[in-house]
Amino acid sequence: MQSNIFLTRFVGHHLVKLVKVDSTNNYLKTLLSNFKPLPTGAVIMADSQFAGRGQSNNAWLSQAGKNLTFSIYLKPDFLSAQKQFKLNEAIALGITDCLTKILGDDCKIKWPNDIYYNNDKIGGILIENTIRGQQINESVIGIGLNVNQTVFPDLINPSSLANIAGVDFDLMALLGDILKSVEDRYLQLEAGNYQQIDEDFTQHLFRYQQIADFKVGAKTLTGKITGITDTGLLIVETAKGEQCFNFKEIGFVV
Ligand code: BTN
Repeated sequence: MQSNIFLTRFVGHHLVKLVKVDSTNNYLKTLLSNFKPLPTGAVIMADSQFAGRGQSNNAWLSQAGKNLTFSIYLKPDFLSAQKQFKLNEAIALGITDCLTKILGDDCKIKWPNDIYYNNDKIGGILIENTIRGQQINESVIGIGLNVNQTVFPDLINPSSLANIAGVDFDLMALLGDILKSVEDRYLQLEAGNYQQIDEDFTQHLFRYQQIADFKVGAKTLTGKITGITDTGLLIVETAKGEQCFNFKEIGFVV
């Protein structure tokens, strides 16, 4: 365990670096279910995951030692379960804030939680919350970011920071920068500044206000994204007026 190597208030002060693990989210959740005391903001990172998990039961594949795969432990108990998408927004924005400084304005958030550069996926977020009563109790924030990997077998549209910038990155320095930006957005969320977070999230959305095709079941729907509801549904303006979709109901045609 290393401590306090980042310029954050608390995120990453407790840092566990693993060589190999099934999944950093699983590792963190196992610690929590074994009642191991963990400080808020603890980070578990791994050089390699052999069962990395993504959204919708997809696998998260990442070449050993080349990328960032880590999980952050947070306790956003100030947030009601109904507002849990705000946490999603804050984390995605934190990552995008940091990457925009490095790669420029083409870094976007593909709703609900993919990190994109132009039409290519460079990162993803898997948030697993536990709810107590009406509030979120604990949150395991898993983040996978393609950094120095340049070849991606079997995937449709992946890219990495190295592919985009043409240089390799120092993984620990980048991790420090991401943790700082994520913490800043988390503190903004904790302060209740939802309006700013909503506005910034919408502004950073992939294909925001652009006419595009989407997949809804077997059909193609043409429309433009005009916003996100309070509970995180995607609002698409179509010929039939505005329609709201949840994650499983609509797909992007990339
Ligand atoms: C997605 O795009 O579907 C989300 C990918 C999330 C991957 C990260 S890597 C670190 C953490 N551990 C996991 O098993 N998954 C997340």
